[in-house]
Amino acid sequence: MRIDIITLFPDYVEGFFSESILKRAREQKLVELVTHDLRDWAVDAYGAVDGHPYGGGAGMVLRCDVVVPAIEKVSKLNPDSSVILLTPQGQKYNQVVARELSKTKGMILVCGRYEGFDERIREYVDREISVGDYVLSGGELAAGVIIDSVVRLLPGALGDDFSSVEESFSTSTLEYPQYTRPEEYDGKKIPPILLSGHHAKIEAWRKEEATRRTKERRPDLS
Ligand code: ADE
Repeated sequence: MRIDIITLFPDYVEGFFSESILKRAREQKLVELVTHDLRDWAVDAYGAVDGHPYGGGAGMVLRCDVVVPAIEKVSKLNPDSSVILLTPQGQKYNQVVARELSKTKGMILVCGRYEGFDERIREYVDREISVGDYVLSGGELAAGVIIDSVVRLLPGALGDDFSSVEESFSTSTLEYPQYTRPEEYDGKKIPPILLSGHHAKIEAWRKEEATRRTKERRPDLS
């Protein structure tokens, strides 16, 4: 898969790729991650990418004659990729969307910044995604959320393919509780069933716990 990110802060975004699963996935060539500096499309020698809003008001707005040529150039290089604008006004992101995106050939993530972007930019993207009902200072962290959750679903990214199939949300239930050493900590013991060696019983217990937990914590999922 190929992921392009159009951003004013390429170094910041590159930072996400230098650790853990993303780093490994990139080294194993499971994913190609390419950042594009929006300032390369600035309208003047001072690197201007934004302007005052027509009609007045506070803050600056990202210019369409900067963002759209950037989208067009990167799209031309990657005709199989869909263009996704990160905005709190977009479709709410979840594991179902992550899974859907992980099956595509590529995506171009467009990060907004500052107080907003020119409305006309919307006409040049395929879809808009929000990572949650809160406002970030820019789309970069939202892009990081999407990239991380999509790349770990790519076959081979986790080393053990089972772990991403089994976990929360793939089946609309939360994960069962997990324990590791020590067997007792601060007077708290692990559930004895996990020491029984009885795999069928352990599996049944885990299923039950996952269902109970989902009902209790996230009734909206069950
Ligand atoms: N940009 C600012 N806030 C955002 C959000 N919640 N989701 C996606 N992009 C954003």
